[in-house]
Order: sequence, then C-alpha cells, then structure tokens
Amino acid sequence: MRCLGIMVLAVLCLAAAVARGQLTSDFYNGCCPQVGDIVRARVSAAMKADPRMGASLLRLHFHDCFVNGCDGSVLLDGSDSEKLAAPNMNSARGFEVVDAIKADLEKACPGVVSCVTPSPSRLSTGCSWYSGGPGYSVLLGRRDGLVANQSGANNNLPSPFEPIDSIIQKFANVGLNTTTDVVVLSGGHTIGRARCALFSSRLSNFSATSSVDPTLDASLASSLQSLCQGGDGNQTAALDVNSADAFDNHYFQNLAGQKGLLASDQGLFSGSGANATKALVQAYSASKERFFCDFGRAMVKMGNISPLTGSAGQIRTNCRAVNK
Ligand code: HEM
Repeated sequence: MRCLGIMVLAVLCLAAAVARGQLTSDFYNGCCPQVGDIVRARVSAAMKADPRMGASLLRLHFHDCFVNGCDGSVLLDGSDSEKLAAPNMNSARGFEVVDAIKADLEKACPGVVSCVTPSPSRLSTGCSWYSGGPGYSVLLGRRDGLVANQSGANNNLPSPFEPIDSIIQKFANVGLNTTTDVVVLSGGHTIGRARCALFSSRLSNFSATSSVDPTLDASLASSLQSLCQGGDGNQTAALDVNSADAFDNHYFQNLAGQKGLLASDQGLFSGSGANATKALVQAYSASKERFFCDFGRAMVKMGNISPLTGSAGQIRTNCRAVNK
C-alpha cells in the first residue's frame, strides 16, 4: 500500500514537472506536501547545534547557483568536484545537513524532491530561519544536474581580493546584471564567518605607505591582528562584527563605519569605483525594511539562474553522486 502511495506521488511529481517545465512556489504540494516541514525541521536542528549553519547553507546556495546554475552541482563528490575548487575547499560547509534533509525526503517521498531543494536555499531560505529575517516566496521544482564544474567554480565565483567592477562583471555573467544585486546580496555577509587567510592581507604590509588597510577601522584592525597572529589562517572572524548570527542590516552600517571584514565588502563603500554601490550601502544602512525587501527579490532572482526543469537532469537519490 505504501509502495503504491509512493509511486502515485512520484508520478504526480513527474507529471507536474513535465507539464509545467517551470518553477512554482507550490510545486511539491501535490507530490510531497511534507517537504517544507522536513527541510525546516532539519535546518532548525542543525542551527540549534551550530548557529553558523544557516550562513553556511546560504553560501552553499550562492556557490551552487553561480556554477552551472542552481542544479546541486556543488554537492557532487569526486576528484573533479566543485568542492575541491579554491573558493570551496576547506571553506564550504553544510553538506552533511543537506545529506540529512535528503535522507528524510527520500523516506517520505522517494525520487521526487531534488537535491537543490534541501540545499540551502529553497524553502523559507537561510534568512527567515533567523528570527526577524526576511521571508519571501521561493520558487520550487528544480532538478539535479549531471556534472560538476570545478573550473567554473574557480572562475565564476567572486574573490574577496577582486575589485568591485570585476565582481559586478561576474554577477552580470550569470544574468544578475545590476549593481543592486551585487550590493544587496553581499548583505548575506550580515551572518557567518570568514577565515583570517581571506582578510589578513589588510592587517599588515598592506602597502608602501600604510601597514594596515586605511579603509579598515583601527580598533577592529587591532582585534583582528590579535585573532589572526601566529595562526594557520583558519581562525575565523564574524563577517558582521556587531551581530554575527542575526540577519539584520548591520553589515551595511558596518561598511559605513569602515568595519567591513573582507576587502570586497569594504570596497562597496570605500573603493575607488564605489560611487553607485556606496549610495545603496547608505540606503540599506538606513532602512532594514528596504534591505529585506530587495534581498528577497534578489534571492529569488539568484535562485532562478539556469534551473533544470521538466525532464532535464534527474532527481538524485544521493546528493553526492549522479544516479547509476
Ligand atoms: C559579492 C561577492 C562575494 C565575495 C567576494 C564573497 C566572499 C566570501 C568569503 C571570502 C567568505 C569567507 C569564506 C571562508 O572563510 O572560507 C564568504 C562567506 C560567506 N558568504 Fe560570501 N562572498 C560574496 C557574495 C556572497 C553572496 C551573494 C552571498 C549570499 C547571498 C554570500 C554569503 C556568504 C555567507 C553567508 C558567508 C559565511 C559562511 C559561513 O559562515 O559558513 N556571499 N564570502
């Protein structure tokens, strides 16, 4: 009887996928109505055990979407995996949480919910998991890709050492072609942490004229120097020095006070090419509501980068490998 039920669910989902060939917010209503509860329960438990996990899942979604579109390619294991690309190696986190969500989904609705769904994004998203964070309607129905793209992960993902115009170009390359998207999505750095290796070049031997990056607040520089000194580069600092685990607009207020952690963060406010981005930083710094509203819109846009729909790709059984 259970098998029959499961087959009916699978057929319902496949029919919905082929018929619609596009993303919708009610995609799983007919074929796996429990999907929201399952993802929420696992993510809540993971964040209770590790408050940083929401941030890690949010970043995983971003790193997935910028490489081959939002197709779960970042989740695949192997020597050619995206996990081994420079922006992800020893850095991307949350794969075990995705595995746990997927295992629950496979029990409840085998073969119907893609790995892109439990991976970071999809339901109620990283941000509304934070109390008071923005909520927005997420579109569902993506399918899983068949290949990883390690060189894409090395080339497409922005680096914290890159100038702003080059970061804007990388967003444009995936169809996020406005300055607003770059600034508002950088607001994801209102949660989570970064390793010393990714900002310590701002703390000593910065330039011929200044040992410390002059766009970094002196007292923050001093506490970061103490944190990073003598370490292996893997110590972490909060991306939002004021409230690392709260989704709010402090990130933007920090930038206005020269308290951005990464050079690419501070560059949105202080960089030589920051005229357009600076005005937005000021606007989001003044209005949490405007930030939340634009962030939700931009997250939906990012989640729509080249999705596989209809009968494209597959529904992986194990998020770490394509089906045999
Ligand atoms: C604009 C260009 C961006 C650059 C240069 C950048 C760079 C970085 C770097 C270097 C880290 C720290 C990694 C580590 O310590 O290993 C990081 C962390 C993070 N990034 Fe970004 N990022 C960018 C955009 C985004 C976007 C668009 C989002 C999501 C909407 C995002 C969300 C996050 C989050 C939440 C973390 C913390 C993850 C954790 O604590 O596990 N970033 N980012």
